[in-house]
Amino acid sequence: MSKSPAAHATIYLKDYKEPDFLIKTVDLTVELGEADTIVTSRLDLARNNAAAKKLSLNGEYLELVSVAMDGRTLEAAEYEVDGKHLTLNIPAKTDGFHLDIKTRIKPQENTALEGLYKSSGNFCTQCEAQGFRRITYYLDRPDVMAVFTTTIIGDATRYPVMLSNGNLTAEKILSDGRKSVTWHDPHPKPAYLFALVAGDLAMVEDSFTTRSGRDIKLRIFVEKGNEDKCGHAMTSLKKSMKWDEEKYGREYDLDIFMIVAVSDFNMGAMENKGLNVFNSKYVLASPETATDADFDGIESVIAHEYFHNWTGNRITCRDWFQLTLKEGLTVFRDQQFSADMNSAAVQRIGDVQRLRAAQFPEDAGPLAHPIQPQSYVEINNFYTATVYEKGAEVIRMIHTLLGEEKFRKGMDLYFERHDGQAVTTEEFVSALEGGSGVDLTQFRRWYVTPGTPEITVNEKFDEKTGTYKLTLQQSNAKAGADFKPLHIPLRMGLLDENGKAIAFTEGPFKGKNSGVFDLTKKRETFTFAGLKSPPRASLFRGFSAPIKINQQMDDRDLAFFFAKDEDLFNRWDAGQRLANNIILKQIEKQDETAALPEAFMEAFADILADKDLDRAFTAAALTLPGEQDIAQKMPVVDVDAIHKVREGARRQIGLRFEEEWRRLYDECSCAAAPANQPESSSRKLKNTALTYLIATGKEDYVGLADRQYRASDNMTDSVAALSGLKDITHPVREALFADYYDKWQKDALVIDKWFMLQAMAVRASTIADVKALMDHPAFTLRNPNRMRSLIGAFASGNPVYFHERSGEGYRILSGVIAALNKTNPQIAARLVAPLGQWRRYDAERQGLMTAELEKILKLPDLSDHVYEMANKSLHN
Ligand code: TRP
Ligand code: ZN
Repeated sequence: MSKSPAAHATIYLKDYKEPDFLIKTVDLTVELGEADTIVTSRLDLARNNAAAKKLSLNGEYLELVSVAMDGRTLEAAEYEVDGKHLTLNIPAKTDGFHLDIKTRIKPQENTALEGLYKSSGNFCTQCEAQGFRRITYYLDRPDVMAVFTTTIIGDATRYPVMLSNGNLTAEKILSDGRKSVTWHDPHPKPAYLFALVAGDLAMVEDSFTTRSGRDIKLRIFVEKGNEDKCGHAMTSLKKSMKWDEEKYGREYDLDIFMIVAVSDFNMGAMENKGLNVFNSKYVLASPETATDADFDGIESVIAHEYFHNWTGNRITCRDWFQLTLKEGLTVFRDQQFSADMNSAAVQRIGDVQRLRAAQFPEDAGPLAHPIQPQSYVEINNFYTATVYEKGAEVIRMIHTLLGEEKFRKGMDLYFERHDGQAVTTEEFVSALEGGSGVDLTQFRRWYVTPGTPEITVNEKFDEKTGTYKLTLQQSNAKAGADFKPLHIPLRMGLLDENGKAIAFTEGPFKGKNSGVFDLTKKRETFTFAGLKSPPRASLFRGFSAPIKINQQMDDRDLAFFFAKDEDLFNRWDAGQRLANNIILKQIEKQDETAALPEAFMEAFADILADKDLDRAFTAAALTLPGEQDIAQKMPVVDVDAIHKVREGARRQIGLRFEEEWRRLYDECSCAAAPANQPESSSRKLKNTALTYLIATGKEDYVGLADRQYRASDNMTDSVAALSGLKDITHPVREALFADYYDKWQKDALVIDKWFMLQAMAVRASTIADVKALMDHPAFTLRNPNRMRSLIGAFASGNPVYFHERSGEGYRILSGVIAALNKTNPQIAARLVAPLGQWRRYDAERQGLMTAELEKILKLPDLSDHVYEMANKSLHN
């Protein structure tokens, strides 16, 4: 078996060239075996470049058995094989020809979970981005689109279920007793959308009738015993199919849509044509085993993968630099869908929280890149919060600038022009321009500009003329000296001193309370006339652009918007800014017991008393910014001070409103949820109350958590009880964690939560606990979910102990990176980012963190994946 050399070569967008040859059809036969698997492929090729003399096919970790051209088996001297390619000479006159290629692979030994591998005894594939080259030699690039016919042959009892893309065309038992099935996918597709699954799986079936009246079979395949946990995924799928028809006019295009849930999966899920493969975490759920947040995650990931059928599969990427073409757009669509299915304001708050928690630090650190990167070493490292989440914000801004109707016209033109093609983000933007008639020339800069723009706000009111002048200035620390201003949509409204909306008196939004203005210059002034008194401007409503705002506002101003803004997102955001300011001041004072300002307490009291708000919104509004959020606002992050002060504030809020928290706790547990709100909103608020009650430090509330856990009939309440107690050392805590393990040890997804809660505990024994958990019989680095639940949660979710002074936290992480570098480099590379934030910490921690990065760079057989992340983290 050939091994890939670790070259660490950089690939550039500017070097893109069309392929020399195209592949029209692929006939694959995959013979699944217990020791190895034989893949035979017949490729029908056509010349695409008259001057090309050689055909170079991608292939890695393959054993070439034979290769024939137009029926003639080639001799070893007629081709070249290295660790990455199979290269053939193609005579100049040859236009069309076919190749028969036979390779041997060992899926049983594939721990990278890329290509064909085994999970819980079943075969499955993951081909995005470049996994197909681990199955057979191929032109493994998204601009080569072929019609696939796939025959799977294997043991009929071990693998009664055999699936691939498209429609089933043949099924038989061979003379040797093996089973053979054939699938044909009529839609030409790139190899990254190929999938194959074989195993002894259970099936849950339903159907969907499209608006044109076609009946689509919907099938979810899971490991046996999980059939009763597919209901929510199936409902989510049907809702997604209906929504895409109504919102975008997009109907499904095969007779069957299949989802397979697998236990070992590097990411969330994969949109393979007609055969989505999912991390079981995003399929399996019952109220007893999954939290409300898990249910939401399933709904959005099912939608995301389904929506890829049009945005990704029917229209795909020309090359991997265009990844945001499908990912940013599809995240935007899944966010829109979730906003339509649930509370739009709560959904938006969650989307922005995720963006700020994951994307802002990325964009401010050494791994910053534009949503369309210009170069990479390993493409898997670019499935980032920037490409996905900021990419979605960029699409959202286009939507905001165009408005609903013109956006739809633009999307219609995009589908009309490019259906069946592999395109660039430029082609997307120009279709949106063409369909809407809106000029996006300057807007295009968002695609190539790294860093989060910062907007500095200046306000002036002229009493005499009654005019208010709003001056906004753009800057961007990452974009360099020749920074060119971006086209930024500013959704805003004005309020009077009582918080009442003031309608605009002139301009395009005359008579309206809110409007979208175009900010296009480095410094720009907007003038509003006809005002009696100085207005208060509510800016960037709904987070109308992914920016940081720099605005002089004191506690009273922020409390005003927290209480009055008609834009719920800005209400929440004002509360967060207020809390952030207060916590940062307490940190400066080095005093976590100093009384919180009255303005803040009163603002909190008002929200607590407001019964008209959605309970999930109330819960979000009453939750302090997270420790990592606060950290982003400190010049040098002090994890211990942040934790101490934030906990001190929670204790004060707990004590001050103890009666109200108790009332809310009871109200939300007993009474039925308000008619227009889901039960999950009540649970959210109830559990927010619980955490504040526990924060009082009173023993009674340990008892309350204990009772909640013991009486709970749902995972949301069980996890909330454990989470509330995780930081204390108390017999009740130990008893509940032991009980949970006992009760759920057979359910991997439930046990993942047990590892995660302990990884995030902030108490003296945490480091020792994490080390002991790594030796726990149920722990393994081989399963990505389990690894992330302990190591990922520790490194990204426990700042106090990950950054513990001795450096032990850093050493734990780098040890895991070293181990995974050998078995699963994709996952290993994703763990590097927390160390990459070293510049944000004090000198001592910087030294410890960079020492681990240096160690990682010296690892033997360092993968491209880990190399790129560690090298950039250290030197960028
Ligand atoms: N295209 C997938 C999605 O966003 C992402 C994905 C799944 C992926 N598995 C992967 C990307 C493995 C890289 C490697 O829906
Ligand atoms: Zn996606």
